[in-house]
Amino acid sequence: MARCVVVAIDGPAGAGKSTIARAVARRLGYVYIDTGAMYRAVALWALRNGIAPDDSHKLDELARHAKIEFTAGASTVVLNGEDVTAAIREPEVSDAASKASALPGVRRAMVDAQREMATGSSVVMEGRDIGTVVFPDAAVKIFLDANPDVRATRRVEELRGKGMEVGAETVAQEMADRDRRDRTRTEAPLVQAPDAIYVDTTGLTIEEVEEAVLKVIRGRVSNGKDVVR
Ligand code: DC
Repeated sequence: MARCVVVAIDGPAGAGKSTIARAVARRLGYVYIDTGAMYRAVALWALRNGIAPDDSHKLDELARHAKIEFTAGASTVVLNGEDVTAAIREPEVSDAASKASALPGVRRAMVDAQREMATGSSVVMEGRDIGTVVFPDAAVKIFLDANPDVRATRRVEELRGKGMEVGAETVAQEMADRDRRDRTRTEAPLVQAPDAIYVDTTGLTIEEVEEAVLKVIRGRVSNGKDVVR
């Protein structure tokens, strides 16, 4: 019988999750889902409405009503019909998303939506809690990491590449704050699942990481004529 495969990729900011998850999904013909973009979309909606990102009552409601969609390949993120791809990458939204994502009600709404998105197709889903909470039975779990300096440098290059003027020290500090919050929150903190494969991307090229991850996937998922794409 045909089966849907879930590849869960978790790890801290700047570890290379988005780049790798997107590339691997393309190579395998699976659907790519960026769950961080979903928390960012909810946070953006809150900011625009003057709602504090830690106001759990209002945030829970926004999260339940947010209509978040990805176009093919997840190259654009659409919130309630509006393309918010660029807006959700602003540093202010990064900070608000980290706060909003600590709220249990927000997480419940997002996890439900993520499970729904993975019905009927094989997916590569990246985030912080995919292998631990969203899909604890995922066929493949990868934990991507890199040393903090390398992660901060990558994020600075990414933001500058998008035309944003950012200071390296500020980005490094904000990233460290965000990571601390993501790792120490009570609800679904960022941790490596016991059965996840740890991949340290420090000093590796994108191609090398992509190959390493594909090798893990191929070792776990037989070449897959029975896999739904
Ligand atoms: O991956 P990102 O930087 O776009 O994620 C934005 C924020 O959302 C980040 O601070 C952690 C949070 N997040 C989460 O708590 N759980 C996920 N599955 C994905 C992201």
